[in-house]
Amino acid sequence: MQLPNYKEARSRKKQQIQKEEYKKDESFGQLGKGKTYYVKTYGCQMNEHDSENIKAMLEELGFIESLEMEASDLVILNTCSIRENAHNKAFGMLGRLKHLKETRKDLILGLCGCMAQEEGVVDEILHKYRQVDFVFGTHNLHRLPYILKKHMDSNQQEIEVLSVEGNLIEGMPVKRASKHKAFVNIMYGCDKFCTYCIVPYTRGKQRSRKKEDILKEVEELVSSGYKEVTLLGQNVNAYGKDTDSDYSMANLLEDVAKTNIPRVRFMTSHPWDFTDQMIEIIAKYPNIMPSIHLPVQSGSSRILKLMGRRYTKEEYIKLFDKMKEKIPNVSISTDIIVGFPGETEEDFKETLELAEYCKYDNAFTFIYSPRENTAACRLQDDTPLQEKEKRLYRLNSIVNQYFLENNQKMIGKTVPVLVEGHNENGKTELYGYTDNNKLINFDGDDSLIGTIIPVEVVDAKTWSLDGKIV
Ligand code: SAH
Ligand code: SF4
Ligand code: F3S
Repeated sequence: MQLPNYKEARSRKKQQIQKEEYKKDESFGQLGKGKTYYVKTYGCQMNEHDSENIKAMLEELGFIESLEMEASDLVILNTCSIRENAHNKAFGMLGRLKHLKETRKDLILGLCGCMAQEEGVVDEILHKYRQVDFVFGTHNLHRLPYILKKHMDSNQQEIEVLSVEGNLIEGMPVKRASKHKAFVNIMYGCDKFCTYCIVPYTRGKQRSRKKEDILKEVEELVSSGYKEVTLLGQNVNAYGKDTDSDYSMANLLEDVAKTNIPRVRFMTSHPWDFTDQMIEIIAKYPNIMPSIHLPVQSGSSRILKLMGRRYTKEEYIKLFDKMKEKIPNVSISTDIIVGFPGETEEDFKETLELAEYCKYDNAFTFIYSPRENTAACRLQDDTPLQEKEKRLYRLNSIVNQYFLENNQKMIGKTVPVLVEGHNENGKTELYGYTDNNKLINFDGDDSLIGTIIPVEVVDAKTWSLDGKIV
């Protein structure tokens, strides 16, 4: 048994990260033959992509994907720790599965993802959720076949969570959710330690993949007909800063654009590391999409300082203005936290003013949620939850209004759309995303799925556009 340890997870020791090729252990044979699996994913794109690896590893063992969780032989919850409610959702699901296991003793239940890296969570699983058969963390995803086999052989609860990140694993199998767009990890972990955030603990220190490995993966996607890649990392602009090389995110973006993949996206960008060179490259290459997620978190420089974000409101606005000026047709989205400890009405009003100024194309807004072991959870917090809820409501009514206004400005324009599939509600209705990342619905033929076509915007709603093929 290997349990997570927060003290170790916090340490950022200087150590050479080694690359290791994923190897399938042939001796496991078809461990899952005749069995079905279901992976339930919570959290961000990192987790979604990890689940693509998990699924492929299970299929190598002979397991078959099932669409129905309750009827599956193996259920894995890939969890998220970012806020209390993500936690509660996963524990609620564990409760449900605990009951299911009372009637179906042969059900195998696994838990992984960011919650598995938390000391408190694993402790609770050890004491209250003995029904969980195995747990593995974010650093040892590739060990899933071994951990599963160990459990299946012994019928004991297996817990293997590493607190210190190990090697960079290359060549893991992947079962991609889409045939047209793909996630490509460019780095793992985060060293920023924003004071509210649990990610540096659950994902470990920043480790950049080698550029050759990233470019090879993108080239393979291009030759398999993929139309879009999203370069993934908690803080992609810091790509390469953990290595001895000068090769930066701007260089990587340029090289990925040169592979001729029709669309390149990237997320998430911390404003701190966003360089002028990156802006130039984005503006220069038409296949780098003009859509940037630039989390601001707060409009008050005082709160930003307490958050450890390393920029002021003024610096953020300067960067924002530069992007708007230099990148034609750019859409900018953001994340905002309300009710950070000590946030006053004045601080909050500055956030509202910033939202009015930036007129974001999209914004993900959250009430601050204290996370175990982070610096902010030790700060005094006098604002009642009810007041925080009111602030969230006030902020949302402003940001929503701009989503609609920005969408309305697109009416009459013809925009390139990557057609992704059918809408659930209408057989003839297709949906896709514009270059600047807006969801658009339009009538069209199935054969268009997976192609990039011009669509005219005919109507605008808060969250989507309606269009017609031209
Ligand atoms: N690496 C990304 C953020 C990943 S987490 C970045 O730095 O931009 C996604 C969002 O969740 C954050 O941008 C933040 O707005 C929100 N978030 C993170 N920790 C939170 C917490 N403790 N309470 C509320 N929201 C939080
Ligand atoms: Fe969390 Fe900050 Fe790292 Fe983003 S940059 S993952 S908010 S610590
Ligand atoms: Fe959640 Fe972990 Fe992503 S905490 S947001 S799944 S990195």
